[in-house]
Amino acid sequence: MNGKKARIIVEKPFGYDLESALQLNKIYASVFEEKQIYRIDHFLGKETAQNILAFRFANGVFEPLWNRNYIDYVEVTAVENLSIEGRGGYYDTSGALRDMVQNHLIQLLALTAMEPPVSFNETEFRNEVVKVYNSLKPMTQEDLDEHVVRGQYTASENEKGYREEKGVPPESRTETYIAMQLSIDNWRWSGVPFYIRTGKQMPTKVTEIVVHFKAAPHQMFHCAEGTCPKGNTLILRIQPNEGILLRIGMKVPGFGFQVKQTELDFTYDRLGGVPTGDAYARLIEGCIAGDPILFTRGDAVESSWRFFDPLLKYWKENPDAPLYGYPAGTWGPLESEAMMEEHEASWTNPCKNLTNSNLYCEL
Ligand code: BG6
Repeated sequence: MNGKKARIIVEKPFGYDLESALQLNKIYASVFEEKQIYRIDHFLGKETAQNILAFRFANGVFEPLWNRNYIDYVEVTAVENLSIEGRGGYYDTSGALRDMVQNHLIQLLALTAMEPPVSFNETEFRNEVVKVYNSLKPMTQEDLDEHVVRGQYTASENEKGYREEKGVPPESRTETYIAMQLSIDNWRWSGVPFYIRTGKQMPTKVTEIVVHFKAAPHQMFHCAEGTCPKGNTLILRIQPNEGILLRIGMKVPGFGFQVKQTELDFTYDRLGGVPTGDAYARLIEGCIAGDPILFTRGDAVESSWRFFDPLLKYWKENPDAPLYGYPAGTWGPLESEAMMEEHEASWTNPCKNLTNSNLYCEL
């Protein structure tokens, strides 16, 4: 398109599957140059998502541990205590995979798993994002059967079920919840499972990344709580109560030698009350300034769809593939816990009341 200043912002989901994304990219490329196309994913506009990069790459202490030698598994969670909010028409054709996973969750995964970019510019940073997507181990039949759990909320005492929502067909098999185990096939992450999940009508709204470090090789102390936790846990909380929390074992004061888990935490309000800002505003500002660094590049969208396409095809060709019901207001199908048992892992569910200034209610 003539005029170097013309820019177009395209909202996610970009495409419906790989084929439509390829077509869309072609259509846009016939009118615009790649640098004029701003594919928006508002999760990247979140201050706390960007802070994952600062946390990892502005500090020397974490990066040496950030790999398969020290990390046992990683959780990426983005769940909501909302329904589909009257968007039945859109949501039923989309489902959780297209609405949240193919874009938002996978972006958070990339920020967590990427290699340090050579410099923080639009090319180097986005190259590293694409490298993560390209390293996702393609799903085998076993993965499709055992490492994916999809669910749909059913009615509870106070809430209606998904199939009763306006604009949703009464026999809909669209997923409102999905949990998956992903593997990143590269030197850094080989053998480390990444568990991702998203869902509507969960007990609370929370987006966070939980990094589980391996246990100390030899445990010589008793734990005050009875069972000792497997290892240290680092929580990167994207929202709400934005912050970072590291769970560590400390000696219980007094006679004897018992260890108790306690927390080192940082909350954003300690930065002097500067509001974290609106994600869309931050991104639109970037577009106006002609800076596409926080926007998704065409090849990244394609690579992400390439990974998820077999799952979409599988569901399409096997309409009877399991879809588990979960009552609105619960943490989703129990099968998603069972999926992690093989690795002796489990989901980290924060309590319902995240309105205090603590990162975790147990504190
Ligand atoms: C949108 C999805 O992209 O992200 C919605 O379409 C979802 O279904 C929303 O509710 C979540 O965003 P946030 O910023 O509120 O976590």
